[in-house]
Amino acid sequence: MKILFLDQSGKPGGAELCLIDIAQPYRDRALVGLFADGDFRKLLEQNQIPVEVLTSQSIAVRKQSNLLQAFTSLGQILPLIAKVVETAYQYDLIYANTQKALVVGAMASLITRRPLVYHLHDILSLEHFSKTNLRVAVNLANLCASLVIANSQASQTAFVQAGGKPDITRVVYNGFNSKNYQTSNDDIQKLRQRLGLENKFVVGHFSRLAPWKGQHILIDALAQLPPQVTAILVGDALFGEQNYVKQLHQQIAELGLEKRVIFLGFRTDIPQLMAACNLVTHTSTAPEPFGRVIVEAMLCGTPVVAAKAGGAMELVEHGVNGFLVTPGEPQALAQVINTCIQEIEMTEKIAGQAKNIARQRFDVANVNQQIAQLLSNVYQTK
Ligand code: UDP
Ligand code: GLC
Repeated sequence: MKILFLDQSGKPGGAELCLIDIAQPYRDRALVGLFADGDFRKLLEQNQIPVEVLTSQSIAVRKQSNLLQAFTSLGQILPLIAKVVETAYQYDLIYANTQKALVVGAMASLITRRPLVYHLHDILSLEHFSKTNLRVAVNLANLCASLVIANSQASQTAFVQAGGKPDITRVVYNGFNSKNYQTSNDDIQKLRQRLGLENKFVVGHFSRLAPWKGQHILIDALAQLPPQVTAILVGDALFGEQNYVKQLHQQIAELGLEKRVIFLGFRTDIPQLMAACNLVTHTSTAPEPFGRVIVEAMLCGTPVVAAKAGGAMELVEHGVNGFLVTPGEPQALAQVINTCIQEIEMTEKIAGQAKNIARQRFDVANVNQQIAQLLSNVYQTK
């Protein structure tokens, strides 16, 4: 089966990193078509996955932006659809990995009669998207997609609540290769040294800088914690959230935390950095559709505290393989962090359990098998 994967982003967000694992088994007969150029293309190339940027003009890819506004000029969308149609004739199936890819993929599917699969990485609710976005995404998926792969029960439920057809949806979690999360103690000690983190209790936050990812909640919590607690913020403002970055720096200055918060920008050594942390926090203030960073922390053996909403609740069982806190409440977060500082044995035990469970539950080989089965059903019944 030859697959044309489509993704609107040139930047490597979670949906894009997930797509690398999904496209991998098909790389000798697949193409990933992007609507913008960037580091994601380079990552695909490093993984020997064929990739082509299908448009010369990059399309506005802010996640929350209006789908229609994103394609305001017909001069922009028509050549893209024409290019995707021409390309799709050489493939058996179109796999749309983002919402704007769904719009273009749906048109191409109608014209070329190639079946369409939509990988839903978002919670389609008003907390995350405009009414128009929701309507366009749900209606196009209902009309054109043979299959909607939701990245969690939470994403599936929101899709159905927004009017999506339940019978075309299946939940498949992101898969991970646990070998990629093995690190050497020696490297970790050196990394801590280089970052000036020796003798600190290091709390890591590994998300792009965006208001709903809630880095500000961790900073507020930090102000309530003992001085040896230091936070590293790993990630960049991938979709233009520069105002939020400014606000974070302001908040840090007002609280006098300049020496206790380190911005590391976008990094590619996530396993090493996570292993160098005493704790990883996930602080999204709106429900997280899945939350790759939560599973990654587990695979690194680092205890994780996650905001109790959306897909995170499917990944973490409080007190068993991590901790859950009410979203948007710095005090509750500070309390859990304090418990982890004090109850080292209990916290280590939970992190060990989390590692074992995550290795099995999110094994990339199993996940790829599930996807292969689903895609072959779609292909055979087209
Ligand atoms: N990530 C990364 N470098 C960074 C920050 C994050 O490679 O500097 C990765 C992180 O390891 C995770 C992904 O980006 O795999 C973010 O995915 P997640 O599902 O947590 O959130 P999203 O940004 O997709 O909403
Ligand atoms: C999206 C979601 C994130 C999820 C990722 C991979 O970017 O925001 O929660 O983990 O896709 O499915």
